[in-house]
Amino acid sequence: MTVIVTGGAGFIGSNFIFYMLNAHPDYRIVCVDKLTYAGNLSTLRSVMNNPAFSFVKLDICDRSGVYSLFEKEKPDMVVNFAAESHVDRSIEDASVFLQTNIIGTSVMMDACRKYGIRRYHQVSTDEVYGDLPLDRPDLFFTEETPIHTSSPYSSSKAGADLLVLAYHRTFGMPVSISRCSNNYGPYHFPEKLIPLMIINALGNKPLPVYGKGINVRDWLYVEDHCKAIDLILHNGRAGEVYNVGGHNEMRNIDIVKLICKELGKPESLITYVADRKGHDLRYAIDPTKIRNELGWMPETKFEDGIRRTIKWYLDNRAWWEEIINGDYQQYYEKMYKDRQKA
Ligand code: NAD
Ligand code: TYD
Repeated sequence: MTVIVTGGAGFIGSNFIFYMLNAHPDYRIVCVDKLTYAGNLSTLRSVMNNPAFSFVKLDICDRSGVYSLFEKEKPDMVVNFAAESHVDRSIEDASVFLQTNIIGTSVMMDACRKYGIRRYHQVSTDEVYGDLPLDRPDLFFTEETPIHTSSPYSSSKAGADLLVLAYHRTFGMPVSISRCSNNYGPYHFPEKLIPLMIINALGNKPLPVYGKGINVRDWLYVEDHCKAIDLILHNGRAGEVYNVGGHNEMRNIDIVKLICKELGKPESLITYVADRKGHDLRYAIDPTKIRNELGWMPETKFEDGIRRTIKWYLDNRAWWEEIINGDYQQYYEKMYKDRQKA
């Protein structure tokens, strides 16, 4: 079995590659990644010499490059992680989000159609459902919740999802989609909430909490997400959407305080800054479908997962120091300099 994994030099894609090489030692994994600011080849160092693994530097929007790769590798399955993934960047400039997340997805699916595939899996997000009110803890996202996006990022992911489902209906392509809640764990790029707060706290730098910090996310340890994708890929029904996550809702401020506590840092580092434009209030997944059909449930408790994650950042300083000492400095300066106090 040959599996193409796009975006495998990023956070979830790399964890998925490690997971698959362990779970299916007889599979060949071909990682396709453009190595944008978010892709890091050093993340894949431990598997580079594994004969079951190969890496190809390629933009998923490059149609002729993608078609040549399919001719050469003859993949049985494709798992598409490649995306621009940061909401704040999409608010600054949506264009590359539309290009990679929608056009790139269409190129990958056209290749699957042309060369044949057993399964195309699209890694999507719960953000396509928009948000839930903070005062209705009884409401959750199901697969039937209408698409109702807030940010250019989530809109581009929703566009891709609709295209994937259209290729199933129109061409009978064997597709599946997972819509996952917020992941955390090793190799998470420092621009996102949890790694940003860990890294800033370690440097005794301000911890910039948007608005009042009361927005809620439903956090999932990345390995649990990888297990879910593996199950959907092999046992999920074609043409179906599966929500992944559930029952681990946390307010941002509580996460930041927990990180301070675990690292022995003072809460006085917390700095309330101007809110994100269009900031989604609450995400919460109902995982009934994937639990009933595929027997999946999140396994890692947040207390364990966050400790493991903090330990990983403490043990792997070289990985993130290389990132924050590069272009990230300009990004940070630009994104945080002008945020007025809330
Ligand atoms: P990431 O930003 O860490 O990694 C994205 C990877 O895609 C990088 O390696 C980057 O180089 C690569 N890439 C970007 N544009 C490309 C292109 N045109 N061609 C080839 N490669 C390209 O993202 P992540 O957090 O690992 O997210 C992976 C997927 O999961 C995304 O599709 C995202 O929408 C989805 N998702 C993420 C989360 C989360 O909490 N991180 C939650 C739900 C869904
Ligand atoms: P993020 O990690 O960007 O994920 P997403 O927007 O996809 O959920 O942000 C998670 C939450 O943390 C979100 O409510 C925004 C908030 N946040 C901050 O308060 N400060 C920050 O510096 C960042 C990056 C995020």
